[in-house]
Amino acid sequence: MKYFSIAIDGPAGAGKSTIAKMIAKKLNIIYVDTGAMYRTVALYCIKHGIQCTDKDNVEKILNQIEIKILYKDHTQRIFLNDEDVSDIIRTQEISQGASDVATIQAVRVKMVELQRNLAKSASVVMDGRDIGTYVLPNADLKIFLTASVEERASRRYKELTQKGIECSLSKIKEEIEARDKNDTCRECSPLRKAEDAVEVDTTGKTIQEVVDQIISLIPKQYDINNDDTI
Ligand code: CDP
Ligand code: CDP
Repeated sequence: MKYFSIAIDGPAGAGKSTIAKMIAKKLNIIYVDTGAMYRTVALYCIKHGIQCTDKDNVEKILNQIEIKILYKDHTQRIFLNDEDVSDIIRTQEISQGASDVATIQAVRVKMVELQRNLAKSASVVMDGRDIGTYVLPNADLKIFLTASVEERASRRYKELTQKGIECSLSKIKEEIEARDKNDTCRECSPLRKAEDAVEVDTTGKTIQEVVDQIISLIPKQYDINNDDTI
């Protein structure tokens, strides 16, 4: 059976996970958050006192990491050696650590295998940095989601302050810029738009406007509400 796949790539704060989750729900397919996998590797390293930039030691412990993805009501839960770490991987320290371990080729090989296996067994909306360019080069629809760095930083700021977390807008902007640089300048699978991806600039657009725009781009031959493809 041929499953349906949508690849969404773009920088931090562009709206990838919010938009991808809504599309998955609307189409009744699964959402694969690949960033969570790199975050999980970073969490393991930090817990074991290994610097996320220390390629040799990260490679050494890679075989101690078993990542499992399970779905509950279409929501992805990620397990690190059988512990559900879905919520504790969302800190700023882990964001930066994920960006560092993501530069290591052996880490990417392991994560990409997991990602491709998921897309082999279900229709997916998958988001990340290299989905359209490398993980799913034959995806049925590829989206490159962007927004100005100012808007991305202010979205994150709003998100954190709403949760009661104290933070500074200028610090968040700096961290996003550093991660953008790390992700676009690395040697393996850098963040870039696939040639056949549609670029969607979300600056000034509501979440619903972006979702509607992406849904309208799905090739008409796909019966997207056909449950047989799930
Ligand atoms: O996954 P990614 O880092 O690309 O972004 P996200 O976590 O989905 O979105 C970051 C924040 O921007 C969330 O709080 C979204 O609700 C918000 N957002 C928005 O305000 N307008 C959009 N068009 C898209 C996302
Ligand atoms: O949600 P946000 O955009 O802030 O980050 P994420 O998607 O959770 O990804 C965290 C980090 O993992 C990114 O900064 C990338 O360095 C890395 N990543 C990657 O290299 N390739 C992917 N397919 C997904 C994430």
